[in-house]
Amino acid sequence: MNHPDPKTFHVKSFGCQMNVYDGDRMTELLESRGLVAAEGGEADLVVLNTCHIRERAAEKVYSDIGRLNRKDGSRPMIAVAGCVAQAEGAEIPRRAPSVDIVVGPQAYHRLPDLIARAARGGRALDTDMPIESKFGALPARRRPGPTAFLTVQEGCDKFCTYCVVPYTRGAEVSRSWRAVVDEAKALVERGAREITLLGQNVNAWEGEDETGRCQGLDGLIRALDALPGLERIRYTTSHPNDMNEALIRAHGEVGKLMPFLHLPVQSGSDRVLKAMNRSHTTSSYLSVIERVRAERPDIALSGDFIVGFPGETDAEFEDTLKIVREVNYAQAYSFKYSPRPGTPAADMDGQVPPEVMDERLQRLQAEINAHQLAFNRASVGRRTSVLLERRGKKPGQLIGKSPWLQSVHLETQAGIGDLVDVEIVSAGPNSIGGIQLPGESRGPAMVAA
Ligand code: 5AD
Ligand code: SF4
Repeated sequence: MNHPDPKTFHVKSFGCQMNVYDGDRMTELLESRGLVAAEGGEADLVVLNTCHIRERAAEKVYSDIGRLNRKDGSRPMIAVAGCVAQAEGAEIPRRAPSVDIVVGPQAYHRLPDLIARAARGGRALDTDMPIESKFGALPARRRPGPTAFLTVQEGCDKFCTYCVVPYTRGAEVSRSWRAVVDEAKALVERGAREITLLGQNVNAWEGEDETGRCQGLDGLIRALDALPGLERIRYTTSHPNDMNEALIRAHGEVGKLMPFLHLPVQSGSDRVLKAMNRSHTTSSYLSVIERVRAERPDIALSGDFIVGFPGETDAEFEDTLKIVREVNYAQAYSFKYSPRPGTPAADMDGQVPPEVMDERLQRLQAEINAHQLAFNRASVGRRTSVLLERRGKKPGQLIGKSPWLQSVHLETQAGIGDLVDVEIVSAGPNSIGGIQLPGESRGPAMVAA
């Protein structure tokens, strides 16, 4: 099908926060080339920014492509971006011939050229991992909300045996100190009050500061702490082995670093962790948690878990429940193991039957939910700050985040982007309710245009 030059576009991102960040940057890139954002079905160009981490996420792209066909037989120009694009490449248009563009996560800065090629009637595919960085080729940041993501590190060298990330996102690469600090400044100047530093292994970030000194993520966090107008700093996702002493200390010392740590363990069984090639044990993981808690006693912990990894026995699964109880997570994500083509675990013996995985997932989620509810209930009566992010369903209601990343609902005259003082008065499994305390809400710092 031949498409004229698209004038409007829609980017739809699935999966992790890095995809949300990439989706924002694609939006900014397309806008800088004069395209205008539009609703999904109406847009001349639809970019599906996909996730390949589990089979269900990867399959979703094909049903989404089918749904883009309009009643009158026309369809938009379709670009598949993200990790499915990287992993499946030319296989995508073979399976879904209506796809015009396939572009991997390290090549999306070339989207304008790919669109031009597709507009001329060709099919455009780019899954290179070019040496030149996409970041240097992207336009400056334009429109963050009060909370913004900032990718500081991409890729992974850990090769956990279940995971596609080292294949879809490539080797671990840190962005430079200068690039990150400049992007953070630009985000704050344009209204961001909270920045979440992103990386598949964000705590493996390393670089040289302006003076040529080697720095780790803690150094970067301390540099951002000094930015006027920035109120909150978070980072995700971390590997337990890269939680070094300096980063742990930062949790006790850096005022803007929020008391929240997402630290996936995946399983509570040392045998399973070994088979996963996680290169940490349950006791080394627990010792990191203990040290972080010593620095920051109120820290909220989050994790990721996989149930039904090949060979996982009932007793090994019980060990996972045990570590959930021991850590007492404030929240956690849990998934059924999903064999990914090309990963070592996909060919391992002892694949666990789906009904066993279902049962284990239900039990694990019940355990996690109970901890989450208890954590939320324990906040009732607490006074804390909330950064307002979006409107709620009820009139006058806004939703924001507590320092511990809980969603807080409250009625307020304050606006999105304000930091308000709140007393927590109610708690549910997924959110808490607050009332605003008297006093000024702290609006965004005034910045020169
Ligand atoms: N199957 C199930 N869950 C997975 N994850 C990564 N790969 C798989 C897989 N093949 C989970 C891990 C990781 C999170 C982002 O997704 O828990 O931390
Ligand atoms: Fe995947 Fe393991 Fe790397 Fe995390 S550390 S991205 S789970 S390979």
